[in-house]
Amino acid sequence: MIGNILKKFDDKFLKTEPRTGKLYAVSALFDTPDQIIHAAEKVSGAGYKKFDVLTPYPVHGMDGAMKLKPTGIGWVAMVAGMSGTTLAFLMIWWMVGVNYPNIFGGKPYFNLTASIPIMFELTVLISALTLVGSLIAIYMKLPFNANPLMDTEFVRRVTSDKFGIYIAADDPKFKLEEVRAMFEELGSSAVSNIHEAEYDKGKTNNPLTDKKFVGALVGTAAATAMISYFVLNVLLFLPPFDWMHRQPKVLPQTESKFFKDGWSMRKPVEGTVARGFMPYEFKGMPDSMVVATPNPLPVTQKVLDLGKKRFDTYCSPCHGFYGKGDSRMRGQFPVPPTLHSQKVTNWKDANIYHVITNGQNTMPSYQSSISRDDRWAIIHYLRVLQRSQNAPDSDVEGK
Ligand code: HEC
Repeated sequence: MIGNILKKFDDKFLKTEPRTGKLYAVSALFDTPDQIIHAAEKVSGAGYKKFDVLTPYPVHGMDGAMKLKPTGIGWVAMVAGMSGTTLAFLMIWWMVGVNYPNIFGGKPYFNLTASIPIMFELTVLISALTLVGSLIAIYMKLPFNANPLMDTEFVRRVTSDKFGIYIAADDPKFKLEEVRAMFEELGSSAVSNIHEAEYDKGKTNNPLTDKKFVGALVGTAAATAMISYFVLNVLLFLPPFDWMHRQPKVLPQTESKFFKDGWSMRKPVEGTVARGFMPYEFKGMPDSMVVATPNPLPVTQKVLDLGKKRFDTYCSPCHGFYGKGDSRMRGQFPVPPTLHSQKVTNWKDANIYHVITNGQNTMPSYQSSISRDDRWAIIHYLRVLQRSQNAPDSDVEGK
């Protein structure tokens, strides 16, 4: 069924009208790759210049048989590629070095090594685009879009199962009878004259200059742009459902009309403290003041449970679960002194707090990993440990 539909389609649209224009070329079809190679050798050997070979797949040795010179397309690629490299270099240098110098991680504004990936990418991109563009423009002779070969039995076969060659009628050596005779002698299965069709001429040659066509193109582009702009920038942002697009705020890196120096990103006022963060309370205080600061947490079961949890997590690896200095670090870290010494027992809570917060000699600071309240809770628990390890008889119940 599909076959029938395709056939009807072919009959309706692909029927080849007998052509009446002037002779464009003489073509010949061959059945095997060997025949076409032989034919190409013969034609190039006979001194024809304006001929071409069309095959359904690449036939090896064809370049030699046709006596093709290496193409100049490599130079196009090289020039385009080098422009890409230079363009990328200049672009990055101008953007990060001149137009918007910004310090990232203390590195220099412009750095060649960091720019190499982009330079490479642009090299490939520009040369690829230029190659495709020049293929279309130069080799396919854009805007010439109605090659007389199109829509012929010849091209239909060479894109399917035959090997074809044609010699253009404007070749200086071209003589119709000679060419036909040569092809037949070579054993071609079909030699045909290809004429230009009437519709190959005149206005249809180049729709790019057709006023109606260009008008429709520009009109469509303008309409699409306007509609997309309206939908994406206006309709979708009509209040109140504007996706919170309009907000009274300054965006990062924008200019400020309010501040005299034009910076909208301000440094915090001196002494500003972030929410949920408490800087070290005793910074710059005299010792007497520090040690006089009491533990702000009450001694409750909850606080002690929290303190135990944190002590076991953060302190016990070095100090041991009972604070006796029975480190689990197996000699990978200096073993700390016992926390049951006279010194630490007599220390005020703030002393211990100070050690946890700032560290002491080899013991590192735990300011960033243990919150302020947790530190105080650990100290309450440490007191419990100390008392349990040196319990007087009076502490024992029933005595
Ligand atoms: C990485 C191992 C390690 C961890 C974890 C550690 N400490 Fe220490 N701590 C030490 C060392 C080592 C010393 C001895 C430092 C010195 O030489 O002054 C020390 C000393 C101390 C001292 C002073 C002891 C003294 O006699 O001077 C106290 C108090 C203390 N630590 C409490 C704690 C608390 C509380 C924790 C948990 C928040 C903790 N440490 C976590 C290794 C550690």
